[in-house]
Amino acid sequence: MVDYLIEINGLKISFKQKNGFVQVVRGIDLKIKRGEIVGILGESGCGKTVSATSILRLEDESAIYDSGQIFFKGKELTDLSESEYQKIRGNQIAYIFQNASTALIPHKKIGKQLMGVLKRHDLPRSKEKILVTLESVGITEAETVYEMYPFQLSGGQNQRIMIAQGIICGPDLLIADEPTSSVDVALRKVILDMLKEINRKTGMAILMITHDFEVINYICDRVVVMYGGLIMEEGPMAEVMSNPLHPYTKALTYCAQSIYQNGSDLFTLSGAPPTPAEFKLECPFAPRCSFKRSTCMLEMPMMMEVDDRKVRCVLYREEYPDVRSDL
Ligand SMILES: Nc1ncnc2c1ncn2[C@@H]1O[C@H](COP(=O)(O)OP(=O)(O)OP(=O)(O)O)[C@@H](O)[C@H]1O
Ligand SMILES: [Mg+2]
Repeated sequence: MVDYLIEINGLKISFKQKNGFVQVVRGIDLKIKRGEIVGILGESGCGKTVSATSILRLEDESAIYDSGQIFFKGKELTDLSESEYQKIRGNQIAYIFQNASTALIPHKKIGKQLMGVLKRHDLPRSKEKILVTLESVGITEAETVYEMYPFQLSGGQNQRIMIAQGIICGPDLLIADEPTSSVDVALRKVILDMLKEINRKTGMAILMITHDFEVINYICDRVVVMYGGLIMEEGPMAEVMSNPLHPYTKALTYCAQSIYQNGSDLFTLSGAPPTPAEFKLECPFAPRCSFKRSTCMLEMPMMMEVDDRKVRCVLYREEYPDVRSDL
């Protein structure tokens, strides 16, 4: 039996709004092994960030955990008190936020901010450790940067500081929410290489959240594709990339290939994902799906196992072999 570092079962999360509750995460199952790099891929608003922040209960008080369990090293997290969560945050599971500029305190020196992280987790307040960590994320003038404020640094440097903040306590799991979305392509590769290297050296697992197939393809062992608050497909990265099972994943790979391959016409996925207020008991991708059957608009497809992969699509039922071969 695999001993998972983290195991999420049937997680459903709603937010309290003026006119009632809206469910945005509708039953997520996700497992990550020690040392594994797993990607969550999906268009904006599909629930990637909420699924990930729920691991550390980082949502505001309007979030309601409707159901589900989150086991970390075998321990159920959703029952923990706030003070118990604080012992895990940063120390055992670290989170790099989507927006680096809001996650760093602009008027506090970098050294002090990193010292604060060590202090919060009762670790020795070692300047040496901070300098070594800054160097490990590619900050060459670590002594100088130690005395600087975030507003004096570039966006790319701040992104590196965020990663340093994430790894300084040696977490078992790093959740990186779009860590490269605000940096140029050259720096994107540098940051991804750096995360790979830390993973290889320390065995730290990574949950990488992005809407960029190229990022997932470059760094992840396994990928989870989300749409409309649900997981639509899951499998080893190379297999999902070369042979996507779900029509949505297929469309995403077409979009990615048409951007990166010279000479091909730009493929676009028409329409937009549903907002949580529009969710119905039907396949959320059906309105945009070229392969939809009448049943797709009438019922929610179940997650099905196909060899060592999973897909939430009726085309994998026995009655549709012909349509499937057209995919
Ligand atoms: N505090 C909140 N209150 C109400 N709705 C929320 C709240 N936080 C998130 N949502 C809604 O939950 C849905 C999922 O949001 P989430 O941030 O997880 O999307 P995402 O997949 O990370 O998107 P992006 O790629 O743009 O970061 C969105 O429709 C969002 O508006
Ligand atoms: Mg997000």
